[in-house]
Amino acid sequence: MNANQDSLTSYWMASAEGAEHPRLRDDHEVEVAVVGGGIAGLCTARALAREGLSVAVVEAGRIAAGVTGHTTAKLTAQHGQIYARLAKSFGPDAARDYATAQTEAIAHVRATADELGADCDIESAPSFVYTGSEDGGAALRDEAEAAREAGLDASFTTETGLPFPVAGAVRVEDQAQFHPRRFLLAVAQDLLAHGGRIFERSRAVEVEPREERQRITVATGSSLYCREAVIATHYPIVNRVRLFSRLKPRRELVVAAPIPEAEDPGGMYITSEEGTRSVRTAPYREGERLLIVTGEAFTPGDPGVAERYRTLEAWASERFGVEEFDYRWAAQDNGTPDKVPFVGRMPGGDGLYVACGFGGWGMTNGVVAARVITGLVTGTAPMWATMFDPSRFHIVKEAGSIAANQKTVMSHLVGDRIGHAPAQSPDELRPGQGAVIRVDGHLRAVYRDDDGAVHTRSAACTHMGCVVGFNDAERTWECPCHGSRFDVNGDVLQGPATSPLPE
Ligand SMILES: Cc1cc2nc3c(=O)[nH]c(=O)nc-3n(C[C@H](O)[C@H](O)[C@H](O)COP(=O)(O)OP(=O)(O)OC[C@H]3O[C@@H](n4cnc5c(N)ncnc54)[C@H](O)[C@@H]3O)c2cc1C
Ligand code: FES
Repeated sequence: MNANQDSLTSYWMASAEGAEHPRLRDDHEVEVAVVGGGIAGLCTARALAREGLSVAVVEAGRIAAGVTGHTTAKLTAQHGQIYARLAKSFGPDAARDYATAQTEAIAHVRATADELGADCDIESAPSFVYTGSEDGGAALRDEAEAAREAGLDASFTTETGLPFPVAGAVRVEDQAQFHPRRFLLAVAQDLLAHGGRIFERSRAVEVEPREERQRITVATGSSLYCREAVIATHYPIVNRVRLFSRLKPRRELVVAAPIPEAEDPGGMYITSEEGTRSVRTAPYREGERLLIVTGEAFTPGDPGVAERYRTLEAWASERFGVEEFDYRWAAQDNGTPDKVPFVGRMPGGDGLYVACGFGGWGMTNGVVAARVITGLVTGTAPMWATMFDPSRFHIVKEAGSIAANQKTVMSHLVGDRIGHAPAQSPDELRPGQGAVIRVDGHLRAVYRDDDGAVHTRSAACTHMGCVVGFNDAERTWECPCHGSRFDVNGDVLQGPATSPLPE
C-alpha cells in the first residue's frame, strides 16, 4: 500500500456527509451534558431528550466521526466467545442478561432506523465465529451451547458462506449490519428536533463539580453547567474506579474492496483465535458488494503499521480474489478485564456517568449504554443494568490484567521507543518517517514531512507522560498506555489526552 495518510478513509465517512454544528462559544446550562458524540453519546443524548430533559452534546471534533465512523458496524449479540466465558465466570443468569441487553439493542436500532426513516442500509444476516483449526472446534461447540442457553438462536456448524473451509463455527441467526454514520446522523437530527443541542469542535478539557452541578470546560474556555454529565468520550477523560488501569486500548486495521454480488459470503464472520480476522459486506455499486475485512490488532504506538496493512490486504486477496482496495482505515477500542463494558454511574454521588470499554462490540453496547444511563437518570434502569456497573471490581479476577496494564505504563514512561527508532538523529529521517529521538538530552517526537521539513514535538504524552510511538501508515503519534493519538503537529486526534504535544 501507499503509506500515505490521505489514502486512509473510512467508507462510512466517505459516503455520508454530516451537517455542521456550532462550537460552544458561551456558557450554557442544561440538565444533562453528554461529552462525546459517538454511538454511545448520541444515542444517550437522544434518549434523554425524548424523556423531556434538556440535553447538550459537546464533541471534540465532528459527531459520528470517532471510532464509530471507523468501525465495521456489525450489530450482533454474538461477541466472540463471550457466552461460555460469562456463564463460567458469573453464572448462566449473567450470560442471559448480556444476551438480552444486546438483542434488545439490535431491535432498538432496527426500530429507530424505521421510525426516523434513516437510509442506513440495515440488513439482517447470520453472524459466525469460526475457526480453521480442529483444536478450536471443541471451544466453539461449548460457545454454541452457552449462547443457546443464554437465549440466542445459535448452533454449531461447519457450513458457512466463506470461500474456504472452516473446522467449525458458531452461527447465530437474525443479526444485523448497517451504515453506522448514516444511522447516527439521523439520530442527531432527532436529538435536535427534541430540543437537544450539539456543539462540535469543542473539546472538554476539564470536568469538575461546582456548587452541586458539574462544570464542563472546553478548550475555548466556555463552560457547560449541568446537573448530570455523561462521559462518552470513548476512552474516559475522568479517572474514577481505576478506569485508567482497567482499560486496555487495541488498534485495528480495516481494508475494503468491491466483490461481485454473487460472491457475497452472506453473513458476518470473525475468527475465534488471536490474530483476528473479521469479514462483512455492505451494499456498494450496481452488481457489487463492498467486502470489509478487519484485523492486524496492535497496541497504539507499535511500529510497522504500513506492513500490517500489506499483510491484511494479502489475506483478503488470497481468500476473496480481490486486487484493488477502495478504502483503508483504522480505529481502536478499549477492553475491560472481564470483557463486559463499564456503563453506569460513577461513584462519588455527583452525577457523573460513564460508557466505555466496549472491547470491539460498541455497536450494540453503545445502544445498551444509552438504555442503562437513561434508565439510571430517569429511575427506569432495566434489571440487567447492574452487570455493566463500572464500580464492580473483582480484585482477584482483575489483578492480573491491571498489573499487566501498569507494567505497560511503567515501561513506556521511561522511553523504551528509542531502541526501535529507525533513526538516531533527525538528519537520518527520510520523508514520511518519524521517530522518537534524544535531542539535547530530551526525548523528542521527530517527523520529516514529504517536503523535507522537520516537525519536532515533545515525545511525552500530555495525558500521563508515557512516550509516544510513530504510526508510519497514518503518520500519527500514538500513546501505548491509554491510546491517545496526536497528529505530526502535536494536535490531539484522540483522547484521553486533551492538550497537544508541546513544541
Ligand atoms: C476496527 C474496529 C471495528 C469494529 N467493529 C465493530 C463491529 O463490527 N461491531 C461492533 O459492535 N463494534 C465494533 N467495534 C467497536 C465500536 O466501533 C466501538 O466500540 C464504538 O464505535 C465506540 O463508540 P463510542 O461512542 O464509545 O466512541 P466514539 O465513536 O469514538 O465517540 C466518542 C466521541 O468522543 C469525542 N471525544 C473524545 N474526547 C473528547 C473530549 N475531551 N471532549 C469532547 N469530545 C471528546 C470523540 O471525538 C468521539 O467523537 C469496532 C471497533 C474497531 C476499532
Ligand atoms: S499517558 Fe495516557 S494516553 Fe498517553
